[in-house]
Amino acid sequence: MEASRTTRILMGSSVRACVLDVRARVLDVRARLVTVHARRPTVLARSIFVFACTLVPCAVAAQDESAAAPGSVWDGVFTEAQAARGRLTYAGACGLCHGRRLNGAPDDPDMVSTPPLARARFLREWEGRSLGALLAYTRLTMPEDNPGSLTDAEYVDVIAYMLSVSRMPAGDGELPADARRLADIVIQGEQ
Ligand code: HEC
Repeated sequence: MEASRTTRILMGSSVRACVLDVRARVLDVRARLVTVHARRPTVLARSIFVFACTLVPCAVAAQDESAAAPGSVWDGVFTEAQAARGRLTYAGACGLCHGRRLNGAPDDPDMVSTPPLARARFLREWEGRSLGALLAYTRLTMPEDNPGSLTDAEYVDVIAYMLSVSRMPAGDGELPADARRLADIVIQGEQ
């Protein structure tokens, strides 16, 4: 529900932007009409045609955005290749503390345990929050000994790997390294 509300707000704002744009063009067309005033009727016809054309991209933009919001982590929001990349990054940057199995048992037995990054316990902790929030948290605080040391694309790859370990299905498109688009994808323990 949250995701579709966000979609509506996004669509609303883009449609509003379009409406403003169209209004500006109407003023422009009116100004031109005043200058060409009563010269030739074809000028008026052409102006009306140009104005009508400005409405078409608005409709297309609104459609694109509604198609772009997947909703939840169960909708095939990452690719297998992305999760495979994330696995390598995870092994180098996260596994030491969060463990090879992502269960919070560190690979080094002398280290203290950490929260799990997959499966039931992790999902309970993050239930209802978005992948945007997860990216923001991770980027700001992890790896705990060197926060912010990965690129956004690397953090997002690791998140794709975390989802794949939690048995979410892969899809055709990669998870984008774009916090605003990730804010539309909600973490849910159950489908
Ligand atoms: C040096 C050890 C260390 C490394 C390396 C590390 N983490 Fe952590 N991580 C922790 C600790 C400790 C916590 C718990 C922090 C807290 O509770 O305040 C944590 C918490 C988290 C959480 C929150 C889990 C929850 O249930 O709220 C996430 C997500 C996370 N880490 C992701 C990562 C990712 C992704 C990487 C690799 C890029 C990484 N961490 C690397 C030690 C580490």
